[in-house]
Amino acid sequence: MPTRTLNVSLAERSYPILIGEGLIDDPRSVLAHLAQKRVAVVTNTTVGPLYLRRFVRGIEAHGVQALEVVLPDGEAHKNWQTLNSVFDALLAARCERATTLIALGGGVVGDIGGFAAATYQRGIPFIQVPTTLLAQVDSSVGGKTAINHPLGKNMIGAFYQPRLVLADTATLDSLPERELCAGIAEVVKYGLIRDAAFLDWLEANMTRLLARDREALAYAIVRSCEHKAEVVAGDEREAADRALLNLGHTFGHAIESGVGYGAWLHGEAVAAGSVLAAELSCRMGMLARADVERIRALFQAAHLPTRAPALGVERYLELMGHDKKVRAGRVRLVLLRALGAAFVTAEFSHDMLAEVLSHCTGNG
Ligand code: NAD
Ligand code: GLY
Repeated sequence: MPTRTLNVSLAERSYPILIGEGLIDDPRSVLAHLAQKRVAVVTNTTVGPLYLRRFVRGIEAHGVQALEVVLPDGEAHKNWQTLNSVFDALLAARCERATTLIALGGGVVGDIGGFAAATYQRGIPFIQVPTTLLAQVDSSVGGKTAINHPLGKNMIGAFYQPRLVLADTATLDSLPERELCAGIAEVVKYGLIRDAAFLDWLEANMTRLLARDREALAYAIVRSCEHKAEVVAGDEREAADRALLNLGHTFGHAIESGVGYGAWLHGEAVAAGSVLAAELSCRMGMLARADVERIRALFQAAHLPTRAPALGVERYLELMGHDKKVRAGRVRLVLLRALGAAFVTAEFSHDMLAEVLSHCTGNG
């Protein structure tokens, strides 16, 4: 399959997204974006043994000096201690302002690495090499970087765009099935918020995606990145439409922190959270019941949870109150008017929200 190049248009901070097979073995695109012949490659204990040597060998062959920084794996480590360990490594190796930080891994490595790049010496060049489906379709694109706080998901961070996103689709071969499914949740999200035809395609091709059919995966990644690039180009800092990318996330982030970071995967929480958003949209008379069932069936076909855990209505509301979309103390939610048409609103029925949180969570 030929490599596809998309562009995130952000004036002087524009950058390419390369999507193709075997890209981590080809150093040319990375070399073209380096400010000096020094990089720090941040990865984790799972991705490192699989891909770090292969990736670094290619760039070192061109005289680039590479510092390797290997983090513990997991959402539970997306915190200050891990971030600080990146700074420790960069400082100990005397990395400079022109040293490029390269994040090689999933969304956790990308979010921590991006935040480290945004803040080390007030900002150093940054490249994303995403190796999970979720990171290839969503987290590596758009410049959101963050760590978690015990009181809320991704609460500490920065908008900081990479100079290049290099998505090697062949790395998905080694991805555990549960992680593949979690990534599909974010793919479905693009269909739900802005592309009903893509939802039709996903329904027709879910079996191929789960079987890791290369052509189907490549199409899903390219289509998702096209959507993400367009949304980010129109609203980099989430003043308006970028918030739509948060469908299911206000509920989902509450699930992730409520059950303890790492117990539910981000994509799983987004799937169950999107069903709650659809339920509320339906009870408010906007979305047809049949559409809610279609959404549920699509997530189920992707082996994703469609019922959020029972945290209790009060706990949900408390956690949702920490959402970054909260404005003047009011929670704002992404809801659906139809499949492929989302909107953000603070004008929802709080009684209905409580009803949804009470009746549509737990073992039912
Ligand atoms: P992850 O980074 O934890 O990766 C999932 C697991 O797969 C990890 O165990 C990882 O080590 C492993 N892994 C990664 N690549 C692999 C490969 N090729 N083969 C085998 N194993 C591999 O999780 P994720 O789903 O990639 O990302 C979730 C994170 O992304 C969350 O913290 C979420 O908040 C964040 N996120 C950020 C944005 C954004 O815009 N910045 C968007 C969506 C999600
Ligand atoms: N994943 C949501 C965003 O990038 O805005």
